[in-house]
Amino acid sequence: MLKVNDHPKIAPSLLAADFAALKEEVLALEHAGADWLHWDVMDGHYVPNLTFGPMVVKALRPVTRLPFDVHLMIQPVMPFIKAFADAGADFITFHPEASTDPLEDIRLIKSLGKKAGLSLNPETSLETVLPFLEMLDLILIMTVSPGFGGQSFKEEPLLKMAELRRLIDQKKLSVLLSVDGGIGPQTAQRALTHGADVLVAGTSILSHKNHYKKAIDALRHPFKDA
Ligand code: DX5
Ligand code: ZN
Repeated sequence: MLKVNDHPKIAPSLLAADFAALKEEVLALEHAGADWLHWDVMDGHYVPNLTFGPMVVKALRPVTRLPFDVHLMIQPVMPFIKAFADAGADFITFHPEASTDPLEDIRLIKSLGKKAGLSLNPETSLETVLPFLEMLDLILIMTVSPGFGGQSFKEEPLLKMAELRRLIDQKKLSVLLSVDGGIGPQTAQRALTHGADVLVAGTSILSHKNHYKKAIDALRHPFKDA
């Protein structure tokens, strides 16, 4: 049995925000107690959907001091890393299969003073991240196929996350395990018992307009009313 993180970080995904009111959404999420803000960057190529680029991230940077957790679902990766670093990203996470040289991309992110993450799709094996484990600040475990919010949670990637948790603890590394896709109070329990440190959630928070605090608290303490 894995030790459950009692203080998971909650990272609302702005993919589910009202795009006509992004500034107000950012402020409301900060006020509701979000720890980080998760930005889903999609290019219509690596994933079949388009969202926003560095200009939007940069425009929102002065609105809050919350860390910006930028999830790049783009291919190629390298040409855009600097733009997102300059836009004010704190974490820059990419998908290894979208990169020609993941090691070079991790090095570039770090050289720009940012934290580096790799994201694993549901079907991507855990071995893919092992060569980079010592250099990473975050691993983002996808519990849906990337591209869209509001999909249902896949259970199988949790086994991979639990295995990574054991490895990270065994090696005494500080890489954070984040889980993304279909996270609500019940699936948050599953994610936390399988070693998650960070819960990314779009729909389960942002569909509750005017009740973001309640939705965030329900993820932070998912065992309370269980
Ligand atoms: C999917 C994105 C997720 C998504 C999660 O490609 O990476 O961050 O916004 O949305 P929900 O919480 O609605 O599954
Ligand atoms: Zn994401």
